[in-house]
Amino acid sequence: MSLLEARGIHKSFGALQALGGVDLCLERGEILGVIGPNGSGKTTLFNCMTGILRPDSGRVVFGGRDITGWPTHRICRAGLVKTSQIVRPFLGMSVLENVLVGGLYGKGLLLKRARAQALEILEQVGLAEAAAQPAGSITVAMRRRLELARCLATGPQAILLDENLAGLTPVEIAESLALLRSLNAQGLSLVVVEHVMQAVMGVSQRVMVLDYGQKIAEGPPAQVVADRRVIEAFLGEEYA
Ligand SMILES: Nc1ncnc2c1ncn2[C@@H]1O[C@H](COP(=O)(O)OP(=O)(O)O)[C@@H](O)[C@H]1O
Ligand SMILES: [Mg+2]
Repeated sequence: MSLLEARGIHKSFGALQALGGVDLCLERGEILGVIGPNGSGKTTLFNCMTGILRPDSGRVVFGGRDITGWPTHRICRAGLVKTSQIVRPFLGMSVLENVLVGGLYGKGLLLKRARAQALEILEQVGLAEAAAQPAGSITVAMRRRLELARCLATGPQAILLDENLAGLTPVEIAESLALLRSLNAQGLSLVVVEHVMQAVMGVSQRVMVLDYGQKIAEGPPAQVVADRRVIEAFLGEEYA
């Protein structure tokens, strides 16, 4: 059985149909890339799977349980989180305190255990040296790692990353992808959303493409980039 399965997700905002019956399937231990032009429904799909939005129709199954309509915190405790889902970083708090929040509220740990775990996670994402710095004073690339660290602190089985690489330099992107690969090698399943194709292609075992709320292609990266519908959907975008 797949770890995460969304079936026939429909979501409209008034007259605008953001998702017109989308399926997504994430296997255990997999990195799935989701790409699509701006406005194609990527974030809406993530929000429908993590309880931020309720789909108009369709089901979401995680770890064999139907989680459709569950509140975000319950989905989080079940092991599925989205970057930036747990409120934005508290800018006045330190980097360490921000990660502590994930362990205390997301996972229900006691302070001593949460603190030890937060330090371990900061080490893992390369933020150990910045632990005492106010979250408001760190670079964008570090902020993105902090967001990932806060997700990790909730003890997830799967993390959905929504444009976590946007605005980073090529070197920072390469470092972040290496981090994602190492987390994946430790058993974490990932769905990586980007509207820029390039980064996702290198890290994903499988890619699905959204366009106007429909899945237009799915398969290994090499097959997807060669797909005529995908090339057309991205015409006019940076990496067409
Ligand atoms: N809360 C909302 N209210 C109204 N329209 C929305 C809302 N969220 C998203 N949309 C619309 O739904 C479509 C899909 O948006 P989104 O899922 O954010 O796309 P993506 O993440 O692929 O850029 C867009 O047309 C967007 O304007
Ligand atoms: Mg989006």
